Amino acid sequence: MTKILILGAHGKIARVATRLLLEKNDEELTLYLRNAPRLASLHGNDRIKIIEGDVLDEPVLEAAMQGQDVVYANLSGDMEKQARTIVRAMDKAGMRRLIFISSMGIYDEVPGEQYGKVLDPYRRSAAVIEASDLDYTIIRPAWLSDTDEISYGTTIKGEEFANPHADVSRKSVADLIVKLITTKGQHVRESLGVNAR
Ligand SMILES: NC(=O)c1ccc[n+]([C@@H]2O[C@H](COP(=O)([O-])OP(=O)(O)OC[C@H]3O[C@@H](n4cnc5c(N)ncnc54)[C@H](OP(=O)(O)O)[C@@H]3O)[C@@H](O)[C@H]2O)c1
Repeated sequence: MTKILILGAHGKIARVATRLLLEKNDEELTLYLRNAPRLASLHGNDRIKIIEGDVLDEPVLEAAMQGQDVVYANLSGDMEKQARTIVRAMDKAGMRRLIFISSMGIYDEVPGEQYGKVLDPYRRSAAVIEASDLDYTIIRPAWLSDTDEISYGTTIKGEEFANPHADVSRKSVADLIVKLITTKGQHVRESLGVNAR
């Protein structure tokens, strides 16, 4: 059974992905987050383990990685430092598969738009991951919405971002994450734009 470590598990996309994984599949989930009592409602589910931790706390992160198959990182903040910490901890733990949420615009792939410094943490963290030897998939969602629908397309690095001015639902991004987790070898060492249809 696949074991998944979700970093930043109280993030909005992460909570939708957790719900979809629990509904549809049989993976074991380790939910890693700060302020863990926020997920107290999930206590008692035998497919879920909850670890309170900051991703920048490397010893705690390394310990959480033991025995896991996939890391799914759903973070914000100092993402360059977070990415470096995750890559180091995965190397030490002998892990390979990483799914990392980033943002539309990091490669200036949206015609006519340059998002500037606000995307620096996303650009720099993606560069750290792309320079690693991990089996990564970077996910670059368009502007996000909480609409209850699954409807999206993807583009690969080097392509123009499709339909960049329409919001894509977090549920759509979560659906893609579930597919990447449950189908081995999909989009390995790729960076995918995720757009609304
Ligand atoms: N808004 C948009 O339209 C848009 C578009 C594209 C991409 N994005 C980006 O996509 C990412 C995921 O989106 P989302 O809606 O799921 O974001 P979110 O709800 O803000 O989730 C990010 C999570 O990262 C956690 N985090 C930050 N630093 C951490 C650390 N050092 N250790 C552990 N956890 C940490 C936060 O934890 P706490 O809850 O403890 O603070 C938060 O739960 C975000 O970076 C977002 O900015 C957003």
